[in-house]
Amino acid sequence: MTTTHDKETPPELLAELRRISARYCLEEGGSHGPDHTERVFQNAMAIGRSMGARLDILAPAALLHDIGRSQESRSKGGLCHADIGADMAEPILRELGYSEEDRTAICRCIRSHRFRGDTEPESLEEKILFDADKLDSIGAVGIGRAFLFAGQIGARLHNADADHSATVAYSGEDTAYREFQVKMSKVSKEMLTPLGRKIARRRHEFMETFFAELNLEIYGSVLQAAGE
Ligand SMILES: [Fe+2]
Ligand SMILES: [Fe+2]
Repeated sequence: MTTTHDKETPPELLAELRRISARYCLEEGGSHGPDHTERVFQNAMAIGRSMGARLDILAPAALLHDIGRSQESRSKGGLCHADIGADMAEPILRELGYSEEDRTAICRCIRSHRFRGDTEPESLEEKILFDADKLDSIGAVGIGRAFLFAGQIGARLHNADADHSATVAYSGEDTAYREFQVKMSKVSKEMLTPLGRKIARRRHEFMETFFAELNLEIYGSVLQAAGE
């Protein structure tokens, strides 16, 4: 059945949105560069399709959701990249021919995707972008990103024996395991859509398995880890 919800973004427009997004996200590299944007886009499209959401709103919102990140980095966290990103997206979307109504819907998705301030995700598309972005911070991808980030700041490989409430972000103790304990382990409970919640639960279980194995290999006996 074809509904207005099936409206897909034409490939040329998607390519243009990707080009614009990469221009802003490239310098973020590693865990927040264009690869992250693309995964969030794919997550959002899959969930959006399954839940009958407006894909023509979700696609530009996902591709532009982190364009304000480098400004937040430069401000050392003083500015919120979701707010800046939404402000930056408005003229970009106008230039690309989006209607005022669609621009408002897309910018609201971008503004609320972080959901730490006052802007709570409300529409289905806002909730899906929030979940799509969060999903990329957990599971195998989340673990990979956490180690990549730890490597970028020169943190240790593992420190399960450290008291993580006493360790400091961006220090040598800011390991992937600290990230798991402090943030990633809580994400599955923050999801806003039923499908996002279901996917997050599976990813959460995988992280538990991974870190249990890492603890066993590092703190258990090498023989025990091999089942000997
Ligand atoms: Fe973000
Ligand atoms: Fe993001």
